[in-house]
Amino acid sequence: MESRRSLEDEYGSSAFQKFPVTIVRGSGAMVWDDSGKEYVDCMAGYGVAIVGHCNPAVVESIKRQSERLITCHGSFYNDARGELLQKLNGVSPKGLEKALLTNSGAESNEAAIKLARRHTGRKKIVSMMGGFHGKTFGALSATWNKKYREPFMPLLEHFDFARYGDAQSLEQLVDADTAAVIAEPIQGETGVVVPPPDYFRQVREVCNRAGALLILDEIQTGLGRTGKMWASEHWGVVPDIMTVSKGLAGGIPFGAALTTREVMGSLKKGEHTSTFAGNPLACAAATATLGFITERNLPTQAEAKGKILKAGLLRIASAHRIVRDVRGMGLMLAAETRVDIHEALLGALNEGVIFAYSGRETFRLLPPLVIDEGQIRRALEVLEGVLTNEEERRARQN
Ligand SMILES: Cc1ncc(COP(=O)(O)O)c(C=O)c1O
Repeated sequence: MESRRSLEDEYGSSAFQKFPVTIVRGSGAMVWDDSGKEYVDCMAGYGVAIVGHCNPAVVESIKRQSERLITCHGSFYNDARGELLQKLNGVSPKGLEKALLTNSGAESNEAAIKLARRHTGRKKIVSMMGGFHGKTFGALSATWNKKYREPFMPLLEHFDFARYGDAQSLEQLVDADTAAVIAEPIQGETGVVVPPPDYFRQVREVCNRAGALLILDEIQTGLGRTGKMWASEHWGVVPDIMTVSKGLAGGIPFGAALTTREVMGSLKKGEHTSTFAGNPLACAAATATLGFITERNLPTQAEAKGKILKAGLLRIASAHRIVRDVRGMGLMLAAETRVDIHEALLGALNEGVIFAYSGRETFRLLPPLVIDEGQIRRALEVLEGVLTNEEERRARQN
């Protein structure tokens, strides 16, 4: 047990803030550690295990593909890739008929930024205060948090930040040199921040007036998590480029920048490729994942289960002053507290539930969309327990 952990500490990067648990197995919304202890997984790898851990349809598809062909560079055609592209097209917003395949969220945003600059011939990218788009240089240049940016300055030039949820602030920054505006439909990393209902329609209009592209980063919000296949559907807005990743291939690294034929057409041969993009194993996993999401109607499930989970969080908030706010849509929810939640997260782990952070004071809940009611109840019980402990601990200190 201890030795596996120390092997990572000894030979791995120290860049991850680690929890003291070694996860070795998963199924649906549950994972198990190396002592056999089980956990309800409300973090799901920051939203990756959207169809559940080791989803049987995904496992079967990976097994089959791994016996036929594991790698095939994009300079050759491949049947698994073609099948995935057709399937992805079937769920993409209207007009976004082309997909540039990638291996992660940050890479999908890199592709989106390059597509926007290439298509418009303009330099400027306007991002949002509080926005998070990844940690590679391009994606990081569009990311707001100083903690991630400052150690790596200088980042890319010509990136500006508007106030999220405030269309006037955006209007002041977008001009004839703006290639694109990039935003998350709901900000995840910054605390599950839901914008005002008419905001994204106004953002769309600002972009249209200036001839700038709208990039929506649906990496955390997409694939049904908020109760619709794409969160932007809640507001009836279609972007010019949409980025997707996280759960797209059931947990295998994968991503995509979806866009129109016209925008994709501006990339010339060789201008943006990568060795693993469109890997057959990832494509087969993604085809199975998208099949599962649509056949089981996971967006509707996320909406229904999200209501139960949110009602539970609101009830806890009304009983415990330590909770300041409850926010979110579908199964993308947050409970903001008035304290540092580190101890509470460790306490929940001890009780068999994994929650994620969204800043030091906020619990973020991104469970698999296949979570059941019993597991939701268990997560709520444990959350209430650790908050009660935290309140008692603080009362003793004062
Ligand atoms: C909205 C959003 N964009 C981009 C990313 C970056 O994705 P990745 O970590 O796969 O590079 C994340 C990751 O959490 C995200 O939530």
